[in-house]
Amino acid sequence: MAILPILVAPHPVLRKKCVPVDSIGDTERKLLDDMLETMYDAPGIGLAAPQIGVAKRMLVMDIARANDAPTPLKIINPEITAASEELYSYEEGCLSYPEQYADVKRPAKVTVTYLDETGAEQVLEAEGLTAVCIQHEIDHLDGINFVDHISSLKRGMIMRRLKKEQARMGKNNKVTAD
Ligand code: NI
Repeated sequence: MAILPILVAPHPVLRKKCVPVDSIGDTERKLLDDMLETMYDAPGIGLAAPQIGVAKRMLVMDIARANDAPTPLKIINPEITAASEELYSYEEGCLSYPEQYADVKRPAKVTVTYLDETGAEQVLEAEGLTAVCIQHEIDHLDGINFVDHISSLKRGMIMRRLKKEQARMGKNNKVTAD
């Protein structure tokens, strides 16, 4: 397994509509393993493929707390098939927006169908933090970032803070070919 560099906003790959995965083989399985390792290392509770420069519909998640047994999910080609009218607000962050947080309102419950790493179809009934996380990650696959759900005023503040931090760190946020 390998820890991959995580792209930081603004980056063009974070704004791409990702393409569906058409076959699931060793390459895809290795990528999902690398994404999980990268996510645990960060640390984070979710990571979508575009965040490591791959514009394909794949994501990983694990909302288990640090001292609990891991509950990794490897999710390919997810579709939200149902969403509750009831909303839930949660202070979200994102590994591509380091140290930036904002309250985002989303449906409290969602049903998601997806393929696992063996290609088998799975159905996930998600609520609470699982619902927050999977909707945030699926957004990434459509080039939508959590800051798109907040006011332009707040978004502007976050983008300026990120830019300042990037300048301070002297980070080279290079474009990764895909
Ligand atoms: Ni994110």
